[in-house]
Formats: sequence, C-alpha cells, structure tokens
Amino acid sequence: MIFNHPNIITYKQAVSLHNITKYCFFITQICLFVTLFRMFVTVQRTYNRETMYTEIVKIVEGGLLKDPKKVYSYTNHLIKKLREDGENRLADRLTKVMNNGVGGVPVYKDELFNTPVDNETRLSIADIVIPEKNITNNLILSESLENSINEFIAKINNKPKFDKIGLEINSSLLLYGPPGCGKTSIAKLIAQKLDMPIVIARFDSLISSLLGSTSKNIRNLFEYANSKPCILFLDEFDAIAKNRKDQQELGELKRVINSLLQNIDEFLKNNILIAATNHHELLDDAIWRRFEQVIEIGQPSQHDIEKLVRTLISKVDTDVKDDSKKTSIISDSLLGLSNSEIKKIINNTISNSIIQNKDTVVFEDFLYEIFKYKNNHNVTTENAIRFMYEKSISQNALSAYFNISIRQVRNHLNIN
Ligand SMILES: Nc1ncnc2c1ncn2[C@@H]1O[C@H](COP(=O)(O)OP(=O)(O)O)[C@@H](O)[C@H]1O
Ligand SMILES: [Mg+2]
Repeated sequence: MIFNHPNIITYKQAVSLHNITKYCFFITQICLFVTLFRMFVTVQRTYNRETMYTEIVKIVEGGLLKDPKKVYSYTNHLIKKLREDGENRLADRLTKVMNNGVGGVPVYKDELFNTPVDNETRLSIADIVIPEKNITNNLILSESLENSINEFIAKINNKPKFDKIGLEINSSLLLYGPPGCGKTSIAKLIAQKLDMPIVIARFDSLISSLLGSTSKNIRNLFEYANSKPCILFLDEFDAIAKNRKDQQELGELKRVINSLLQNIDEFLKNNILIAATNHHELLDDAIWRRFEQVIEIGQPSQHDIEKLVRTLISKVDTDVKDDSKKTSIISDSLLGLSNSEIKKIINNTISNSIIQNKDTVVFEDFLYEIFKYKNNHNVTTENAIRFMYEKSISQNALSAYFNISIRQVRNHLNIN
C-alpha cells in the first residue's frame, strides 16, 4: 500500500529525475559558457574595431599628405587586424590593391617600407636611407677626420681577414661633438662610401611614453636592422644611453640600458653600428667601452670654414670669391660657429641678395649677416657700422651701404 501513495516515487522514477536534473545543469553550463564566449568575442571585436579606427584615420592622413609610406604601413596594420577579426574578404581586397596598385600604377612595395613601429603611437621607430651612389657630397672634412673615417671603412672592408686569424675587431663607431658639426652627415657619408642602406633610429618614437615598451622597441629595432645588410645608426644616442647613475630615472631606465647593451653586443657580432651624440658626458661608461672607434667631431677650424665658405659661394656672383683677404676675414668672423650655422648665414646672405634683385653679393652683405646672426638679429646700425669698420670696411663704403652720410658714419664711430 505504501508504494501506491501519490507522494512517493519509485526508485526508477527517482533515477530518471536525477538524470534530468543533471542534464539541465549541464545544458545551463554550456549556455553560460557560450554566452561568456560571445561576450568575449564582442568585446574583442569592439576593441579591434576601435583600434582599426586609428588605422583608418592614419591612412586618410597619409593620403592627404601624399605620404605613401604612411598609407602602406597603416594599411598593412589594418589588414592584419581585419584577418584577426575574421573579415577576410575586406582584408583580401585591400591586399589586392596593395599588391597590384591603383589604375595600373603599382604601389611601391619595397620591403624596406616595413620599418618597425612603436606599438602605442604607431610611429615608425626607424628611417631607412638608401645612399645615392653618384651624388657628390659637399662635406668639408679636416685631413685627420677624413683619415679616421677612412680607417673605419678600411676596417669594415678587411673584416673577413681579421676574422680569419681570430682578431676581435667589431665594426662600431661613436661620433661625438657639438650639434651641427656633421655627425649625421658623416654617418650618411660612410653609408654612401660603403654603398649600404642606413637605418636611422628615431629616438623620439623609440622612447615610448610607456617605458616598458622602450625595451621592446629597442629589440625590434635591432632585429629589423639585423635582418638586412645595412648600417644601424643610433642618432642623438644620449637620449637613451643616459648614465645609469642618473638619480631621477633609475629602475626602468636601468633595464632599458641593459637591454640596449645586450642588443649592441649581439648585433656587433655581424653588423655595422654607428652612434652619435651631442652629450658624450651623459653616456654610460659601459656604452663607451662597446665602441671600437670613437671620433670627436668638433667645430670647424678657420681653414675648414674658409673651404666651406668657398664651396657655398662657388656658384654665386660675389666680390668675395677671388679675394683671399675678404674670404679670410669672413672665415675669421665665423670662427666658433658650427658648420650648420655657417651654412645658414652664408645661404641667408645669398638668398637676401636674390630677393632684393642685387646682381652681386658683396662683402658687406656677408659681414652684416654674420653680425646680425651673432647678435640674434638685435642690432642697431651704429653697432653694425662699428663691427664692419673693424672688419676693414671703409667709411665711404659704409656710407654707401647704409645709405647715410659720411658724417653720420663718423658719428657712429665716434670719429671727429
Ligand atoms: N663638415 C661639413 N661640411 C659641410 N657641411 C656640413 C658639415 N657638417 C655639417 N654640415 C651641414 O650642417 C648641417 C647639419 O649637419 P649634421 O650632420 O646634421 O650635424 P650634427 O649631426 O652634428 O648635428 C647639414 O646641413 C650639413 O650639410
Ligand atoms: Mg645629428
């Protein structure tokens, strides 16, 4: 009788109820898992999509700025993200455009375009320059500097012979000295002489605002340079190779320097490295020791300035050209300035004359421009007249040049 009671279930019924509960629980678990997975995919897609917006904006910017390198590099990023997102059709179409070009004009698809970029800013961390063979450079170098550069090149050309007898000489050069004196130009000159591309590291984008990414950028840069025959040029090197004792930037910076040292050691086994700095005093001792050859690029001597001035005015109609006394006075007045400043002053003088439709650039024009530059353009006629008089310009010539009377000139010079 007990077994027929409506509230009592049989053993069989109990087992099947248990199984149903088990299945329901199992199905609920699957549903939960599927929901979570879909949520994850949606979040991932939203994230990808948002990061794709950056690429799209950059591609448009590149197009407007007529910068194919930018367009190429960001389109590659976009294609990669589209594939991750399963958007293969669009990715294929973009790849096709990239490979075949537009309207029969192929896209310049040099592998060198794929320079590494900073993950955060998407800026390229290196530029690659392919030296043009037959371009004559107008660099004025002292004999000793030219010898040092040739020595570095000879060491590279003879490296196989050194290796054969186990002579440990790596191909590294550190150039240091004040700005504008030719470090970057010399690195490019070496690339030209060796007929090799030069990868110029861009320290502004290499040093990521996320310090943790800096080491990664350094690694990517060295890997990139290691993957092709080239010279790696670390310009403005002090930005990264700061002394590890620098109290304010310990910790992460130490790690960055260590990563830099490791990369340099590994890289120098088979490659050529040039670094340049305006602040050699900031460089870490361990970094100094890495370089086989160190050359100081100082300010030009009077003799080199004269050569530079002669080169710069060689195509210009001027009364200075064939007058050694005048060229010598100009060079003397430029002493203490960098090549870059000298170039700027001489070129400014020439361009001002052209703008004023003068037939000839005269000695006075050069002196006046030098005086203005040295005084940050805060000059009075009186001061300029005194300077130019000291530099052998006669009172008559000064009167004609400044369009004032001889009496006024003499007044400015305090001559009665
Ligand atoms: N020895 C030189 N002869 C001629 N021009 C020079 C020389 N050194 C530098 N210049 C000019 O000065 C400018 C800056 O030179 P750069 O190589 O960038 O200097 P740095 O890298 O030392 O700051 C360039 O336009 C370059 O042509
Ligand atoms: Mg430089």
